[in-house]
Amino acid sequence: MTNDLQARGAQVGQQGAQKGLLGPTGRPLVDFPVPPALSGHGPARIIAMCNQKGGVGKTTTTINLGAALAEYGRKVLLVDFDPQGALSVGLGVNPHELQHTVYTLLMDRRATVPDVVVPTRLPGVDILPANIDLSAAEVQLVGEVAREQALVRALRSGTDDYDVVLVDCQPSLGLLTVNALTAAHGVVIPLECEFFALRGVALLVETIEKVQDRLNPALAVDGILATMYDARTLHSREVIARVVEAFGSTLFDTVIGRTVKFPDASVAGEPITTYAPEHSGAESYRRLARELVARGAAA
Ligand SMILES: Nc1ncnc2c1ncn2[C@@H]1O[C@H](COP(=O)(O)OP(=O)(O)OP(=O)(O)O)[C@@H](O)[C@H]1O
Ligand SMILES: [Mg+2]
Repeated sequence: MTNDLQARGAQVGQQGAQKGLLGPTGRPLVDFPVPPALSGHGPARIIAMCNQKGGVGKTTTTINLGAALAEYGRKVLLVDFDPQGALSVGLGVNPHELQHTVYTLLMDRRATVPDVVVPTRLPGVDILPANIDLSAAEVQLVGEVAREQALVRALRSGTDDYDVVLVDCQPSLGLLTVNALTAAHGVVIPLECEFFALRGVALLVETIEKVQDRLNPALAVDGILATMYDARTLHSREVIARVVEAFGSTLFDTVIGRTVKFPDASVAGEPITTYAPEHSGAESYRRLARELVARGAAA
């Protein structure tokens, strides 16, 4: 698998460089190298997938970036940190049947990651599932000491063998999201290519800065990811141009196109990388995985 991917990646990169093509971000369309094999696993770098706007591709990115990193031999833990449980369902895990979820891990100090973790059908990808119970945690944590540190404490109980932990946040800037930002080394901000996408980003950046000031000085913004891009519309291209203007190279070079294959894959309970492995949507998330490693934001 890795050799196939390596060959394909190199081919695309050469083609792009030879033709002097520009990608949607206006930068030359060069590819990122396939990450070298790892000799061992861990310590994990924790990345929060965050945007308080709903439906921008947080969960889709968590699933597919995780799956792509695993194809490159990384051990990945996905954390469902949304009471809707969409990440769990999107990977074929029915969270309503589970006794232990990420809620258990937050609220019961004796619970550890191995007590709650569930393997997925994807080799190298495990998940800490969530269900509606998690909505109670937000209320219950408010009265606790170090309420913002509940997730970081919980994750310390067993993430050493993973290379990457991806936390799928809910669409809010509430206490759960602050917990994710406090636990994280980096944050990835998925941004839908539509006109009002940039509204709300200032508030998100402000929240990130507050967390950096008060709770987690080492937190880095790993990048903004443009999602649901439609090259045929002027609209999509304008949104990208405005993001580049406002955020420059913070915008990932990789842009995720809009395609119905993503909702189709979610319904099937699998990532696009296995549902439609040759599709450009699968290729985009592999490219994002390579870009993330090239940026030093993943092992
Ligand atoms: N690139 C894409 N092209 C087309 N549809 C997409 C794309 N990415 C995600 N979707 C679809 O858009 C919907 C919202 O995506 P997703 O659930 O990933 O967003 P989210 O930010 O996690 O939403 P929420 O804020 O509700 O948690 C889903 O139906 C998903 O399948
Ligand atoms: Mg979601």
